[in-house]
Amino acid sequence: MGQVFVTRRVPGRAVELLQGAGHDVAVWPDDLPPPANALRESLLQADAALTMVTDPIGQDLLIEAERLCVVANMAVGYDNIDIVAASQAGVWATNTPGVLHETTADLAFALLLAAARNVVLSDRDTRDGGWQMWSPTAFLGPDPFGATIGIVGLGEIGQAVARRAHGFGMTVLAATRTSRPGIEQELGVEKVSLNDLLQRADFVSLHVPYSPVTEHLIGSQELAVMKETAILVNTARGGVVDQDALVEALRAGTIGGAALDVTVPEPLPLTHPLYGFPNVIITPHIGSASFATRAHMAEMAARNIVAVLGGAEPLNPVNQPPVPRNRA
Ligand code: DGY
Repeated sequence: MGQVFVTRRVPGRAVELLQGAGHDVAVWPDDLPPPANALRESLLQADAALTMVTDPIGQDLLIEAERLCVVANMAVGYDNIDIVAASQAGVWATNTPGVLHETTADLAFALLLAAARNVVLSDRDTRDGGWQMWSPTAFLGPDPFGATIGIVGLGEIGQAVARRAHGFGMTVLAATRTSRPGIEQELGVEKVSLNDLLQRADFVSLHVPYSPVTEHLIGSQELAVMKETAILVNTARGGVVDQDALVEALRAGTIGGAALDVTVPEPLPLTHPLYGFPNVIITPHIGSASFATRAHMAEMAARNIVAVLGGAEPLNPVNQPPVPRNRA
């Protein structure tokens, strides 16, 4: 049957699923991604690839790897794949929708709460011996309960964040370019312009995919509109925020803080000025990192591969190649 290259060790039964369908599976053994040349060498031999957001799958690779029929990304985002080139080359690209939104929304809320209530900062201080005595003035922060949250992007993850926000008695605003009739009402969300949202929200949480349209969606102008106390939460993609502008806003104190699960680049070098702000939390792109969710994601990617190598269409395509390649 087919040759499948899995670019990292993955949790769950994904490899068993692929082997059970009769495929030969090679798993990159390291915890770091395969370097460009190793990725290329492996893909030249592969009929299918199970990839991560950290694997750049560009045009040259898609053309050169002429056996490759499907790139199954273990992620809902797929900005690491050149989708136009994949379609032109006849390669299916797939993602993992519907399985990670609750887990990612949990992290967005964890970051929101942690930033507001100084969870990370006070933990660090405690470990450094800073806990002298209960203090009426130490580590004060804004109340999430009853505050206004602005959700930018009302897809699966944005909707899951909105549901959580109601549990915290929040007023929920959403800015979305996609029209989903009835959804705002169903979720108890007020649909507003991005500008309006930024002016009114105490917490701004980003949930748009990364694309040329959303690149630097939050830049200096947008940051300038936010409240001085507002906290920006980004669990989407680093490129949605203009990081230089964010650093400037934090320096000038025109926003209250930021909690970032995604940055540009990833990992963010330790010399980056963002690490210098006590009101910034940075986590290493762990939005979907629960045991169950990561296993689901890997298994879903594997099922997409099994479908394509079995001669069917994938279950979760993000492109539609006019002439799909067939396994040689
Ligand atoms: C995704 O699914 O796009 C995440 O960023 C990876 O968990």
